[in-house]
Amino acid sequence: MISRRGSEDTAALDFAVQIAREAGRVLLQHFERLDPTRIERKSTHRDLVTAADLASERTILQAVRARYPGHAIHAEEEGRSGSPDAPTWIVDPLDGTINFVHGLPAFGVSIALYEGGEPRVGVVHLPKLGETFSARAGGGAFLAGRPIRVARTSELKDALVATGFPYERGDPERDNAALFAHLYPQVRDLRRWGAASADLAFVACGRFDAFWELDLKPYDVAAGALLVREAGGVVTDLRGGNEWLHGGSVVCGPPVLHAALQRELRGRWRGGA
Ligand code: IPD
Ligand code: CA
Ligand code: CA
Repeated sequence: MISRRGSEDTAALDFAVQIAREAGRVLLQHFERLDPTRIERKSTHRDLVTAADLASERTILQAVRARYPGHAIHAEEEGRSGSPDAPTWIVDPLDGTINFVHGLPAFGVSIALYEGGEPRVGVVHLPKLGETFSARAGGGAFLAGRPIRVARTSELKDALVATGFPYERGDPERDNAALFAHLYPQVRDLRRWGAASADLAFVACGRFDAFWELDLKPYDVAAGALLVREAGGVVTDLRGGNEWLHGGSVVCGPPVLHAALQRELRGRWRGGA
């Protein structure tokens, strides 16, 4: 018999899938029609925000507030609202903004529900690819309604490994170039897809064998990390601990491969001392 928590989470997941798809339709209305004079820079010339990020986030937050008025929100553009103890919706309304601005199809919507620091549901929707990844804690991970699993790969030499680079460059603790160079001769190949939530979703379904990144925010990883876990993978921070949601760094993959990758990265990471 499904528990009360299980049926609440199933309802929350159905809701999250529906609003992620709605937000995806909003993004597609803006895709390849952006007014370049209205693309704003946030912290650096790489960190962009467009009318599409804002419209997608408005769509999601309005729906969350109407359906779950007692819940808290942590959204990329609007920030945090609501009680820190309440179940929290963690939202990236457009992950892969640089791809979006350049007309590349690698972008999506990431929505997760957390409570007490633990994931309950997560959705990554990639509107241009027409793919929706979803997971419920203890309920498995799915792509288009079918169960997904991480790859069986256990050795770095056979692995296609994804990563990403932070907007702020020059800080040695967050400099991924050295780690990239260290891994480059050891793996089958490396990919920089440009949307962390999709990188995680692709690990969950075995397209990528593993993924790491150094300077991510909770809204980049909240949904994708649950997908990976529910698909049989391991998610940690680069030190091998559990600070992957707020700590910035994340490394994930099938258990044996994850351990090998984490060891290699930690050994070379200047922020890992
Ligand atoms: C970015 C993407 C990118 C990652 C950056 C993120 P945004 O998110 O996920 O792949 O490398 O660190 O900030 O800004 O497109 O939502
Ligand atoms: Ca993001
Ligand atoms: Ca974003």
